[in-house]
Amino acid sequence: MTPVDGSGTGSSATARTGRPKTLLMCPPDYFRVEYAINPWMDPANPVDPDRARRQWAALKDTYARLGHAVRLIDPRPDLPDMVFAANGATVIGGTVLGSKFRYPERAGEGPAYLDWFRRNGYQAVTDPAEVNEGEGDLIFAHRAIIAGYGFRSSRAIQRQAAALFGLPVIGVRLIDPRYYHLDTALLVLDADTAAYYPAAFDDAGRAALAAHFGHLIEAKDEDAEVLGLNGLSDGATVVLPVQATGLAGQLEAAGFSVVGVDMSEFAKSGGGPKCCTLELR
Ligand code: ARG
Repeated sequence: MTPVDGSGTGSSATARTGRPKTLLMCPPDYFRVEYAINPWMDPANPVDPDRARRQWAALKDTYARLGHAVRLIDPRPDLPDMVFAANGATVIGGTVLGSKFRYPERAGEGPAYLDWFRRNGYQAVTDPAEVNEGEGDLIFAHRAIIAGYGFRSSRAIQRQAAALFGLPVIGVRLIDPRYYHLDTALLVLDADTAAYYPAAFDDAGRAALAAHFGHLIEAKDEDAEVLGLNGLSDGATVVLPVQATGLAGQLEAAGFSVVGVDMSEFAKSGGGPKCCTLELR
């Protein structure tokens, strides 16, 4: 039994301890698939809006039940992918690096998220100098930031991120267009542990991940293919796409508890629970 409130009351000595987080989400009011900027998206396979709303609400309720605070940003009718809050910024220690999207369809989201941070009292908010799709590609890994590039975020953003956050940045090239954002292929579980999909990386990337993490869990094809790595860990409990049954077993074997969520409508856009969530550190 894993404590989820972080208070430690009643926790056994061996249990992992979850840390409550503050998470930013964007309601899916205008979420649609009406263009295709990744291989998952096909406007001929449209979103069921009611189902998307229910799935998103269940994710939000799951976070609340696990003790996380959820904040909301207003969606915009002209930005159907704005629901993927992970792409809106990277936030570490209250410092915010804004996003600059690769494709014009999402360009308006960069300023929309930056505006939210400026209006909500964040003091250190920096415009990105290069193409940067937020926490989709710049993933906080405690002692370092892992930075994916190759499809969306530019390699050049790494320099700005390192200077701004004062952390080493480890660049990893993504090589499979289905895993176009790093958070579709790498799931950081705690300071020393991550799950990843080896085939999404080149040899140098795999070596870099092996050098950083003491414990790496290799996801199988069938779990990566349901976007199973697009989960969120608080160090003890992992919110994971419910379709990723094999990966769930691997995480439980490593001592994590797993809560499954069904985000199938969002998978039609190449997204999962983590994509719908931006951590405000
Ligand atoms: N349709 C969106 C895109 O292609 C999905 C973004 C998913 N977000 C993520 N953090 N992986 O840009």
